[in-house]
Amino acid sequence: MELTLDLAYELLRKEEVPEHIIRHSEKVALIALFLGCFLKERGEPIDLNLLTCAALLHDIKKMESIKTGMNHALSGYKLMKNLGFERAGEIIYAHIFFKAPKPGAPISEEEIVFYADKRVKHDEIVTLKERFKDLRERYGRTLKSLIRMTLLEEMTLLLEKRLFKNLKIRPEDFLLLNEIKEVKDVLKRCLESCTTCWRDIIGERSFP
Ligand SMILES: [Fe+2]
Repeated sequence: MELTLDLAYELLRKEEVPEHIIRHSEKVALIALFLGCFLKERGEPIDLNLLTCAALLHDIKKMESIKTGMNHALSGYKLMKNLGFERAGEIIYAHIFFKAPKPGAPISEEEIVFYADKRVKHDEIVTLKERFKDLRERYGRTLKSLIRMTLLEEMTLLLEKRLFKNLKIRPEDFLLLNEIKEVKDVLKRCLESCTTCWRDIIGERSFP
């Protein structure tokens, strides 16, 4: 069985993922897919279907984990592995347990989903700066957690530089994706005709 966008949505329903987490995950998937398209154009070996499905499913176990105390990235990995989609599971796992890439390594789906998740505050696409400000306010209660958050922000900024190197889009351009309402349709359409989708949906504004 192949992991398709329809199956990913079905899994979200089956796992009873609440609406607000689905909306968050759809925004993460939008960023991941658009960024993936541009990176693929740059020659990176990205599997766009896998990337988009994993982005959509990255928080599939989040709600359940709040109740059980399990780590949601780990339980997401286990679920996907049991379903026969281990590669998607690995990408989900890495959105929390991120391993920095080796110098010179090609861009991985893990890096894109990790980054995309840091660009979405609830269900709104924001800058890294804004997202980390929000994270510090919510979770930076102790000095230790503040330091951890600052290190994570610096690492994510470095990752942003790596991802956008030689791309014709800038991180701010992704804010335009907030205008998209029918996310599922757009994801479907873009998976079919990748390089032109961006222009079709938000026009020529983002292309200087
Ligand atoms: Fe997330």
